[in-house]
Amino acid sequence: MAKTINEDVRVVVGIDFGTTFSTYAYAHKENKNDIFVNDDWPFYGRYKTPTALLYDEQLKLLEWGFPALAGRQRKKKNLHWIELFKLCLIKSIKRPTLPPGLSFKTAISDYLRKLGDSIKETLESRWPGLKFFRQVLLVLTVPAEYDNNTIAIMRECALNAGLIKTKESPYLIFTTEPEAASIHCMRSLKEYELKIGDSFMVVDCGGGTVDLSTKILLKGEKLKEAIEQNGEECGGSFVDKEFLKFLGKKVGRLAVEMVSKKHYGDLQYMIQEFCQFVKIPFTGKSEGFKSYELDLEQICPVIKQYVINEYKEKMEEDSWVVTIEFNDVRSMFDPVIEKILKLIQNQFGEDCSAMILVGGFSESKYLQSRIKNEFGARMNNKIYVPPQPMVAIVKGAVKFGLNQEVIADRILKWTYGSTDIRTDLGNNVFSRMIKKGTRVSVDEKVSRVYTPVSKDQMKMGFDLYTTNRDNADFCNDPHVNLLGKFSINVPDNDRAILYSLCFGTEIQATATDIESGEKYETTFELDI
Ligand SMILES: Nc1ncnc2c1ncn2[C@@H]1O[C@H](COP(=O)(O)OP(=O)(O)OP(=O)(O)O)[C@@H](O)[C@H]1O
Ligand SMILES: [Mg+2]
Repeated sequence: MAKTINEDVRVVVGIDFGTTFSTYAYAHKENKNDIFVNDDWPFYGRYKTPTALLYDEQLKLLEWGFPALAGRQRKKKNLHWIELFKLCLIKSIKRPTLPPGLSFKTAISDYLRKLGDSIKETLESRWPGLKFFRQVLLVLTVPAEYDNNTIAIMRECALNAGLIKTKESPYLIFTTEPEAASIHCMRSLKEYELKIGDSFMVVDCGGGTVDLSTKILLKGEKLKEAIEQNGEECGGSFVDKEFLKFLGKKVGRLAVEMVSKKHYGDLQYMIQEFCQFVKIPFTGKSEGFKSYELDLEQICPVIKQYVINEYKEKMEEDSWVVTIEFNDVRSMFDPVIEKILKLIQNQFGEDCSAMILVGGFSESKYLQSRIKNEFGARMNNKIYVPPQPMVAIVKGAVKFGLNQEVIADRILKWTYGSTDIRTDLGNNVFSRMIKKGTRVSVDEKVSRVYTPVSKDQMKMGFDLYTTNRDNADFCNDPHVNLLGKFSINVPDNDRAILYSLCFGTEIQATATDIESGEKYETTFELDI
């Protein structure tokens, strides 16, 4: 009989740990429609806080979130600003360099610990007495490209951060970012009269990357991945980079580089000002646009010492004020938007029936209008931007958790086994892998090692049989049933193959070539 933890869980918390910004949201199970996104961040920030950490010379954590980027610490020396550390989990991307002695796992764990402290504090004030480790289900969103190993690292970091008590804790589950975004927008998609089998594209415009994934709507509000996920580095922070290029033209590229190298906090402060007063309000329409005067003496006085020659003369003439006009802002957005449009175009199929825009950069009215202009007519204007696209993922994560049946542990109803070949008994021997009545926890694994039996064996078959008895002699005994089978190629007969079964919501069977590490996977239904 399966015991679900659902009876214990009172509150579901979604955590969106983003490359540039992070946040969390929560809802009580008795009130599933009231999903609250945390809006109480230290120092500044509406619904999100930067994914940033500030360490001192001895790698002691000083600040996290917005205060880590700008403000109070600016005068101290030898500080380490750590950003973009989430990218360390993706092998194909150029990893940010961390100071010697600080591993990316420590940075992620430190950040999650701070986020966790804030979650615990918020929940305690909302529902005093709520038991965090027994009554709260955490749903962490991850990029679609994360594999099981990467998710295992995130789990380890969550454990180090004190978000869970044991590594296998069923109180922490994962969902992908596009999945969560789709779940959040499901009801609105229905208003677009999407039918079963129709496909739609999720465009997640974040800070670092823009990620696309195309999903097919299945029966019962289920989703299927249609095209492999695709992404590129053209998120909102690239508009900030264009702003720095623009500034470089006014004060000299070198001056900007020096501030970036020596006064990182000051540079970040100036970028925040730019975002707040220029980037975020920009609509792409000249009506109502007010040019912005960036007063360097006020916003970034340290830059003055690096401004030389003709740049200095001109800046003195202008009293150190850089005026940003409409066309300047548009040319900061345009190269980034062109890249986004191209990325979408490359994945856009004729059968794509709708599009949803999520992520912080999708808040931009200018970006929204450019995407709608380009693709709207081709899809009957079914381009949906949810209210607050920035928090669509984290809200979807909460909805995912609220609808999840989570099984803590269960007692197996069947005995599971596979075929073994024995010279004395023939090639249909039942080899028991796990006996009925055994208690298994979620994601528990049982494994056996198999080797090819004959010299010229090119393939090895792996199958899974069940019986309601404690054991069986042969796989064709009347009480034994075949659950499924698959075979793998073996390049030579020296190979040893590790066959494991992992009991999650279904049984995941994996055959791993021990020497090459190559893996073959399939899933079988788990009848409990
Ligand atoms: N109203 C707005 N207009 C323009 N850009 C905005 C607006 N609001 C937020 N942004 C930008 O959105 C970006 C952050 O997006 P988001 O919070 O989705 O990032 P993230 O999840 O950390 O990124 P990633 O998905 O790459 O991990 C930042 O560059 C921010 O400046
Ligand atoms: Mg994101």
